[in-house]
Amino acid sequence: MHGNDGIDLRPAQRLIDRHLAHTEPYQVEIDSLQLLMLPGVFCPTYTKTSTFLAEHTQVEPGERVLDMFCGSGYQGLMAARRGASVLCVDWSAEAVSCATTNAERNGLADRVVVRQGDLFAPVSGQFDVIIANPPLLPITPSSMFETAVYDSALAHSNRFLEEVRDYLAPGGRAYFLASSAPKDQGLFDLGAEARNCGLEVRSVADRVLPYETYTVFKLQLPVGARVARR
Ligand SMILES: C[S@@+](CC[C@H](N)C(=O)[O-])C[C@H]1O[C@@H](n2cnc3c(N)ncnc32)[C@H](O)[C@@H]1O
Repeated sequence: MHGNDGIDLRPAQRLIDRHLAHTEPYQVEIDSLQLLMLPGVFCPTYTKTSTFLAEHTQVEPGERVLDMFCGSGYQGLMAARRGASVLCVDWSAEAVSCATTNAERNGLADRVVVRQGDLFAPVSGQFDVIIANPPLLPITPSSMFETAVYDSALAHSNRFLEEVRDYLAPGGRAYFLASSAPKDQGLFDLGAEARNCGLEVRSVADRVLPYETYTVFKLQLPVGARVARR
């Protein structure tokens, strides 16, 4: 099973099917966090991507962190546990409810705010760290849940790259997870797109799987670049 553009969709379909099998809330443990998962919310234990990004995201106590595309809140909760104050954002009502519940269940609600909205629409202010685990494959989603995995032409990743500079504090950094599959098909090269948006790009870590390679990119404004005030 391949997308129109030649990407092998079988691993993604297996992941989607595994999520759709849930009709009731269920519980998972990850990095000693107890997460209550709601049906329709991306589960961070069902792929290696979430933990891979968290392992390579550096957060210091007291930093302001934005967890964009938050899903269950896993990335934001990891940052809050390291002492950061965190804003989690997702456009799915189920994800917002899930992340809010998980902040409470893990004793982190005093450091975590969760908002619903499309990308930066519900965001104001600036952040020392912005974490992004976006939908990775440039396929048109056919349900709300599929927007966790698919994003036609990676339009949301593109918009993220265009807008992120306005939300980075001076010296701030974004950690962005990308798959090699869109680049291998000549569809989307994260590094090139980010540089086009005036960002400095560094590859922090690669994880090679049989069907694709995941990379954590660190994105920063060039020294001396104008930082917008919000
Ligand atoms: C891969 S999941 C990320 C889950 C979580 N951050 C993690 O690391 O386990 C992607 C999430 O992005 C959300 N999403 C997709 N497009 C969005 C958009 N334009 N604005 C906000 N959230 C979006 C989906 O609802 C989904 O929860």
